[in-house]
Amino acid sequence: MRSKLTAAFILLLMALLAISCKKTTKYTVTNDDDSQPIYQNPAYPVEERVDDLLSRMTLDEKIGQMAQAERNALGNENDIKTYFLGSILSGGGSAPSPNTPAAWADMYDRFQSAALNTRLKIPIIYGIDAVHGHNNVYGATIFPHNIGMGCTGNPDLVEQAARATAEEVSGTGIDWTFGPCIAVPRDERWGRTYEGFGETPELAEQIGSAAVRGFQGNALGGPASILACTKHFLGDGGTTGGHDQGNTEVDEQTLRSIHLPGYIAAIQDGVGSIMVSFSSWNGQKMHGNHYLLTDVLKGELGFEGFLISDWSGIDQLPGDYASDIEASINAGLDMIMVPTRFIEFISTLRNLVNQNRIPVSRIDDAVRRILRIKFKMGLFENPYTDRSYTGSIGSAEHRQIARECVRQSLVLLKNDNQILPLSKNLARIHVAGKNANDLGNQCGGWTISWQGSSGNITVGTTILQAIQNTVSSGTQVTYSIDGNGAAGADVAVVVVGETPYAEGAGDRSNLNLSSEDVTALANVNNSGTPIVLILVSGRPMIITPVLGIFEAIIAAWLPGSEGQGVADVLFGDYSPTGKLSHSWPAAMSQIPINVGDPGYNPLFPYGYGLSY
Ligand code: BGC
Ligand code: BGC
Repeated sequence: MRSKLTAAFILLLMALLAISCKKTTKYTVTNDDDSQPIYQNPAYPVEERVDDLLSRMTLDEKIGQMAQAERNALGNENDIKTYFLGSILSGGGSAPSPNTPAAWADMYDRFQSAALNTRLKIPIIYGIDAVHGHNNVYGATIFPHNIGMGCTGNPDLVEQAARATAEEVSGTGIDWTFGPCIAVPRDERWGRTYEGFGETPELAEQIGSAAVRGFQGNALGGPASILACTKHFLGDGGTTGGHDQGNTEVDEQTLRSIHLPGYIAAIQDGVGSIMVSFSSWNGQKMHGNHYLLTDVLKGELGFEGFLISDWSGIDQLPGDYASDIEASINAGLDMIMVPTRFIEFISTLRNLVNQNRIPVSRIDDAVRRILRIKFKMGLFENPYTDRSYTGSIGSAEHRQIARECVRQSLVLLKNDNQILPLSKNLARIHVAGKNANDLGNQCGGWTISWQGSSGNITVGTTILQAIQNTVSSGTQVTYSIDGNGAAGADVAVVVVGETPYAEGAGDRSNLNLSSEDVTALANVNNSGTPIVLILVSGRPMIITPVLGIFEAIIAAWLPGSEGQGVADVLFGDYSPTGKLSHSWPAAMSQIPINVGDPGYNPLFPYGYGLSY
């Protein structure tokens, strides 16, 4: 007995040893306390390490920390070393080839080793838009877009989803996600409506901060902790006409009451970075707004992380490039997403400092903020990919969480004669519509590519496949995109809506169903088959004119890779709980329409949602 215990103990020790050996990094901190600089010694408090490192840095090394280059813009990996780059990003769809988890991790480690080959060995921080799962990586779990997450009303579930995403991101080495987007979209014509959790500040606060906690974990530097980045500060969802990158024309009180609460909550929960918005506030570009970036965010709200600009966002400021850099950094930006002209950015910024147009104290503050986060994240101690998470990418466990998100995000808008839930034993179900069997369409933008695309773009289950998986063996499932062939079926499930888009490419003045969708609906309707409508879309669409032809309507938003969650609701394995995160307009002329408006009379109000 005793020897058995001893043997078990020895085995345990060996296993622990093996685990710690597996985690060896190519970069080792010397243990000789006399020669080891303070900044390299994790025993010292973060602020002391920052001071020590800052005191050793040249101006060029500081400026490099403030530059973020796109991976495709690098001449080669040595650019990281030559220019002391502090950060790299992948833009939407910017992936290594082949697009496999291992290739991502290898790429990350190569970039990191270039950074660790510099004089001071300051690790890079790599950012990516993991905005509904690790969506640039083929085979990753794709979660519903935020508009659907808002409908779950379930912060715990959203936190769990963000945790799973953080594990998948960690498995590719990447340190930082440009999310959550906590925009409060006030006008559904905006192409980024689906990126926000919903039209009220409460959703940005409650659901947004849950996502921050999920990404960062209990603390930066903890297991599979990635840096979160709430975006886009401030007022991105409030632009007139819902124009992407447009102008938010509201007084300060309105700006604060609608668009600021999400940031206050995220800062309380320790968000380490914030991205500034392309948009303007009353005609002034946010990228140059000293009052909001410095006085409000860093002063009043006490934000101690760093501010990053949006993609070439400073280029949109008035004046030449030097004045863009001067205005944005003096306004309070700490890191600039350049993303391609980093050589020019670095030399111009150096000149501006030498000409005293940007004070060294501002540079030091920016670099201090960036380094503080890098130290907190443990990047100096663990700079390379933790490959123990690589196998979690697209795992069954994560897909199960995503499926739960899908179930809870679906909103049942109509259910005449209790046609839902459907029986699994019907003789025949006819499935129709362009979004019924299209993984790309159900994932939407920011999936594998920036804009997203139709078709079999990654690994997942379409809604049609999920229906086929769910019905009993005696049930026949027929399918046509155009709705033909429905006659004689017990029920038709028609899945229509939007096709993928991102950012300004999704701005619309018309949210009516497309003529293709109307035709499919008419074909099914002419057959006399009762219709269940599943709308796959990044926002409410105008369905008033056709409302009467449906027995039931489910708003499924952009559910992502786990279509099974839709079938769970259709067939009653899950009784719907989702509540509208947006007021559902009855007509285009009602937009913008938001809860609390005078004369509020939407087709379905904010918070609406039926159950069985
Ligand atoms: C978007 C950001 C995104 C960035 C990096 C920009 O165009 O506005 O939301 O994080 O690109 O891809
Ligand atoms: C990138 C996106 C970025 C966009 C900005 C695209 O090429 O892939 O990440 O948001 O440009 O315009």
